[in-house]
Amino acid sequence: MSDHTVIQPGHYKGYPTTMTRASLDAMTRQARKDQDGFWLEQAERVHWHKKPTRGFEGSFEGDVSIKWFEDGLLNVSVCCLDRYLTDKADQVALIAHREGHGPAEKLTYAMLHERVCRLANALTHLGVEKGQRVAINLPMVSEAVVAMLACARIGAVHVVLFGGFSADGIAERLVDSGSVAVITASVAYRGAKIIPFKEMMDTALYKAGADSAVHSVLVVRTSDDAVPMLPGRDHDYHDFVDSFEVDFVPVIMKAEDPLFMLYTSGSTGKPKAIVHACGGYIVWASYTMDMVYAQRPGDVLWCTADVAWITGHSSVVYGPLANGGTTMISDSLPAYPHPGRWWDLVDEYKVTMLFSSPTAVRAMMADGDDVVNRHDLSSLRLLGIAGEPISPDAWLWYHDVVGKKRCPVADTWWQTETGGIVLGPIPGVQSLKPGSASRPLPGIEMAITDTRGRVVQGVAEGSLCIARSWPGQARTIWGDHARFCQTYFTKVPGLYFTGDGARRDADGYYWITGRMDDVINIAGHRLGTAEVEDVLGEDHRILESAAVGVPHPVKGEGLVVFIMPRKDSATELTEEGVARLITQRLGRYAAPEAVYLVPDLPRTRSGKIVRRLLRKIASGETENLGDLSALTDPSVVGAVCNRVWGAM
Ligand code: WTA
Repeated sequence: MSDHTVIQPGHYKGYPTTMTRASLDAMTRQARKDQDGFWLEQAERVHWHKKPTRGFEGSFEGDVSIKWFEDGLLNVSVCCLDRYLTDKADQVALIAHREGHGPAEKLTYAMLHERVCRLANALTHLGVEKGQRVAINLPMVSEAVVAMLACARIGAVHVVLFGGFSADGIAERLVDSGSVAVITASVAYRGAKIIPFKEMMDTALYKAGADSAVHSVLVVRTSDDAVPMLPGRDHDYHDFVDSFEVDFVPVIMKAEDPLFMLYTSGSTGKPKAIVHACGGYIVWASYTMDMVYAQRPGDVLWCTADVAWITGHSSVVYGPLANGGTTMISDSLPAYPHPGRWWDLVDEYKVTMLFSSPTAVRAMMADGDDVVNRHDLSSLRLLGIAGEPISPDAWLWYHDVVGKKRCPVADTWWQTETGGIVLGPIPGVQSLKPGSASRPLPGIEMAITDTRGRVVQGVAEGSLCIARSWPGQARTIWGDHARFCQTYFTKVPGLYFTGDGARRDADGYYWITGRMDDVINIAGHRLGTAEVEDVLGEDHRILESAAVGVPHPVKGEGLVVFIMPRKDSATELTEEGVARLITQRLGRYAAPEAVYLVPDLPRTRSGKIVRRLLRKIASGETENLGDLSALTDPSVVGAVCNRVWGAM
């Protein structure tokens, strides 16, 4: 493919970078030679109450233990706010734009600090203590950033829940995390749609019942309509919080105390909460954002990711603020109220760095070049992406049409579990290859292993692993360390297994080939096919189901579900009904592209469903189904093809 297109750093003449090829190589060498020394030096980026003297301690073997900077003490909100109150108090820290609400709110470091302190006081008044969990379920409003930092300030562990989750999904996560308080909004706007956040939260809390430990709910009023409030439990956010003091002495945390947890999907049914620790995470968020984005005074970084995503944590909140930058959030959609809406905002707020998803790029590409060309995008100097594979075509469109060939495109590969960018280019210093997530940042020891779990050097393709720990590495899965060890450290003993496949070319560039487990990536949202099948398994009318991912022109992947109904089922099962069940139970993001009721599913002689075949049938690759002789009943394939594609 486009291994051949290489854009040399010299192409971006005058791109502001303080790095050189030589300094980058020197960093890589130093990190390799003296891991602890390198990271203790990087740890100096953030403010410590007591500086750490210890680097990494732990092991990827056995009962996996990961600790960084263990004797350090800090508070992450101080790293992001207080330390800038002397020299950047009046610099804008956060630009919060809300569609249809006039000019964006601009909060300086001093203002953000005040708001965070008020909420820290309010949460403390409600009885929230260090180590307890607080669930945040908010659209992209300034209170979302304030809420995360206020939790950090009091030492509470925030759990940001995605707005696309269903009430069931929220209930399950509230119970699993043991959250004691919730910060939500009355509603959220997604273009013309109104999403009733508070109503969903009420349903979730009702469903969770006595299993939930939530005693308080703060509600940010995002619309003029009244929402039901439960006296004693629910409080209007601003009525309640704004009367508290604007100062709050930060709770001093140990580096290894948890900062937040974030739910993500894996190959087994239950969503898991990935836990990140204060010290290592903030150093890593600061380091990675500085290496790739290197914000300078005057830069406005707009990362369009939802705050409920790891990208929202590291690239919207913690990275930019730890580095003293200006970060922008918006609840707008790229094409609402008209195509090119994001380009209006880039111009209006003089965005210098736009960081988005391949799905958004593909959607904007479909709207045509004219839409982009009608706007003044001269403020932009860097374009970023993460979260899903991007084709060289879409990469080049972003680069040529949006960036006018002036702005490097940084395709960065990372995961909820990695806490921040792992693979990504240093703009202006390294060559770019459209479609490749570039190379590991200094300090990361990437490895590719073959089918037998052996590390292969040089040009290679196989499982993408990381050989040594890095400060931003997830520490555990909340309440299930055994699952953490099993998921990430048993496939290739001694290495962290990412779940992705990759190819490394002769220049050491990585090309992600996709997930190797049963996780699909719908518009950047991870969804375990087992999660879908578990939900369907609860319906007594369904005998068996198989969920697969198929290529989708905009979302990257889409969900297709095959259902084998129970023959004796009294109530009728419809394809629409199954689709509704999935969205109700998991959330809107999991809405299937298609549901097919089929008489049987193709299986091997040992009874295993052959998902590979279903994936091919669903994506129209029926010409090339391969050898079917190992199936118990090859005629099943014909029946399934008939259902999907009509008589063939
Ligand atoms: C995928 C998102 C190709 C990958 C930051 C990974 C990517 C999963 C890229 C993590 C990329 C992320 N190119 N694929 N640049 N970045 N992925 O936890 O499969 O939501 O394992 O974190 O997204 O998704 P997560």
